[in-house]
Amino acid sequence: MIYDFSCYIDRLPYASSKWNMNTRPYQKGDMIPLWVADSDFTSPEAVKKAIRDYADFGVFGYTGNPHGLTAAVKGWLQRKHHWEIDESWLSFPGGVVASLFAAVRAFTAPGEKVIINDPVYPPFAAAIREQGREIAWNPLSYDGTRFTFDFAHLRSLFATADKPKMMILCSPHNAAGRVWTPEELKNLSDILLENDCLLVSDEIHFDLVWDEHEHFTAGRLGPKVMEKMIMLSSASKTFNVAGMHASYAVVPNEELRNAFNRQFTGSTQSNFIGKLALLACYTESDDYLEQMKAYIMGNFDFVIPAINQRLAPLKATRPEGTYLVWVDCRALQMEQKELMSWFLEDLKLRLNDGATFGPAGTGYIRLNCATPRMFLEEAVERIEANLKSR
Ligand SMILES: Cc1ncc(COP(=O)(O)O)c(C=O)c1O
Repeated sequence: MIYDFSCYIDRLPYASSKWNMNTRPYQKGDMIPLWVADSDFTSPEAVKKAIRDYADFGVFGYTGNPHGLTAAVKGWLQRKHHWEIDESWLSFPGGVVASLFAAVRAFTAPGEKVIINDPVYPPFAAAIREQGREIAWNPLSYDGTRFTFDFAHLRSLFATADKPKMMILCSPHNAAGRVWTPEELKNLSDILLENDCLLVSDEIHFDLVWDEHEHFTAGRLGPKVMEKMIMLSSASKTFNVAGMHASYAVVPNEELRNAFNRQFTGSTQSNFIGKLALLACYTESDDYLEQMKAYIMGNFDFVIPAINQRLAPLKATRPEGTYLVWVDCRALQMEQKELMSWFLEDLKLRLNDGATFGPAGTGYIRLNCATPRMFLEEAVERIEANLKSR
C-alpha cells in the first residue's frame, strides 16, 4: 500500500495531546505544534483493520495476549535488531514511562543514585526524582556537531562510597539524536558491569534510524550484560500508536524479571486493542515503516539546511536516529523563558523547551519532524521573517 504522509489530518476530534492548544482545524497562521513525540501520520492499514475487526466482533470481555503476539515481538527483535530472545522474557507493562518508574522502584532504594545522560527525555529525571532517588547527571559531551558519552565523568560517578545503582540509557538518544555505536555501548556497559550497575535501556526509538546508521540493541552486548539489564521498547513511535500504550519489556534474568513484573501487580497493563495494534505493526506493516522513513528523511533534507542557512545563528545537526531535531539557539543569547515565549507567543510555534531535558539542555529547543512537510516549511518561514525583522 502507498501512504501519503504529506496530508494534514485534523486530530482535534480525538483529543490529541499535541494539538490541544488549537480549537479549530489548522488554518495558515495558526499555532503549529512541533513538540510531543508522536507523528501526525495515519497508522498502518493493518492496524486500522485489526481494530475494526475487533470492534465488529463486539465482545470485549477479559483477555490474554492475542495469538502470536510474543512470537511477533520475538520475530521483530530478530529480524530488525538481530537479537534472539526467549518469549518468556517478555512482558507488556503499558507504557515505557510506567516501566521506567517501575524499574527505579524495583531496583533502587530511596536516596540511591541513578545515572542519566542529559540532555535527555524529561521523564527519565522524573522517574528518579519523584520517587525519592537521586539523579547522578552524566552530561553528554558535545563537540559542536556530535554528542558522545563522557566516559571519564562516568567513571568519576562511581568513585564515591554511594555508587549509583542504575543507569537509564536512551538508545537511540532523545534529544541528542545519536545512534550509539557498538563500541560506545561496549565501553559504557564495561564500566557499568565493573561497578555492578544495572542497565535500563529505553529503545523506544530503535526503528527510527536514518541514512547509514544502525541501531545496536543492548541485548547484543553479551551474556554478562544480559544478566544485568532491562530493555524497554514499543511500536508507538515507529507506527504512531502511542495512545494505545502497548509497550513491552525484555528482561532475560529471571530474578530481575520477577522483581520488575511484581511492580505491576494489581495495575492494568497494556490493553487488548493496543496489543492487537502491536501485533499488526510487527507482522504486516514493514512497507509503512520504509515509506515513513523516506518521508522523514525528506523532512530532514529540507529542515536541517534551512535551519543552518536561513535561520542562522540557529544551528542543528541531522539526527542519526529519532524524528526529533535538537536545535541550538544559544547564539540568540536569550534567557530560556524569553526564548520559549518568542517561539510560542511571537511565532506561534509550540516546541519542547530544552531546559526540561536537564542542565545540558539550556539554550536548546526540540523540534519534532514527524509531520507533513508544509508545517516545517511554514515554521521556517515564520522564524526567518522574524529574524530578518529584528
Ligand atoms: C525515550 C522515550 N521513552 C519513552 C517515551 C514514552 O513512552 P510511553 O508513551 O510508552 O510511556 C518517549 C516518548 O517520547 C521517549 O522519547
